[in-house]
Amino acid sequence: MADGTSPVGLGIDIGGSGIKGAPVDLDTGEFTSDRLKILTPVPATPAAVAAVVAEIAAAFPGHAGPGCPVGVAFPGVVKHGVARSAAHVAPSWVGVDTERLLAEVTGQRVHVLNDADAAAVAEHRYGAAQEAEGVVLMTTLGTGIGTALLVGGRLVPNTELGHVEIDGHDAETRAASSIRKQEGLSYRDWAEGRLQRYYSVMEDLLSPDLIVVGGGVSRKADRFLPHLRLRTPIVAARLRNTAGIAGAAITAAERLGRDGG
Ligand code: BGC
Repeated sequence: MADGTSPVGLGIDIGGSGIKGAPVDLDTGEFTSDRLKILTPVPATPAAVAAVVAEIAAAFPGHAGPGCPVGVAFPGVVKHGVARSAAHVAPSWVGVDTERLLAEVTGQRVHVLNDADAAAVAEHRYGAAQEAEGVVLMTTLGTGIGTALLVGGRLVPNTELGHVEIDGHDAETRAASSIRKQEGLSYRDWAEGRLQRYYSVMEDLLSPDLIVVGGGVSRKADRFLPHLRLRTPIVAARLRNTAGIAGAAITAAERLGRDGG
């Protein structure tokens, strides 16, 4: 409890370019102090990234204590704490027990989940999917495309729908935000070409009730969302790129706080 009233947890988001952490007020999803960002080491091996995670956890000693488990969002599939894929970090993560490694280096209890899953949990709790019922598809547009599926507010973890093959391509290699920049596409061309195709396939496959678009580029949502013609309501994430941190903190507190692990 940072202010004595609300429970606080520590969330850390491992990304391809930065590793970010902040203490999170679990009642509101807001950060209780400024976020700390450290550049992702290159190569982003388990040992190098773990050292940065430990540095961030150590920077918030009042929060990452007993009863305040550390939540970590990871860019890949995470099954029972073990990384089963690794995007934008070193391939040597695959097969690593991420929870054990990060618990060792931080000296704290740790819960690890996919980064898009973490973002969806936060958007459902505090953001754009708050009132949403039925099936919600969360997508994070960044270096790749992360996805998360919520059904009646419950997460279906590790969906990886950013890698659906569309027109012979791994979807994220056509529609991610990084590709827009790389190919010098305008927001409108990106929306009308790449995003339209991607989200049309998603709505045909899943018939969601709501699509939420997150990732850093969601700040510019007014430049691309209006160009999309979909049956499904599609909205910008409200927590923007703080959602991964907040969602990781909430999930960790719920998973570990309740039963001690
Ligand atoms: C990975 C996902 C991850 C997303 C965003 C994708 O390339 O496969 O696991 O959620 O990038 O980081």
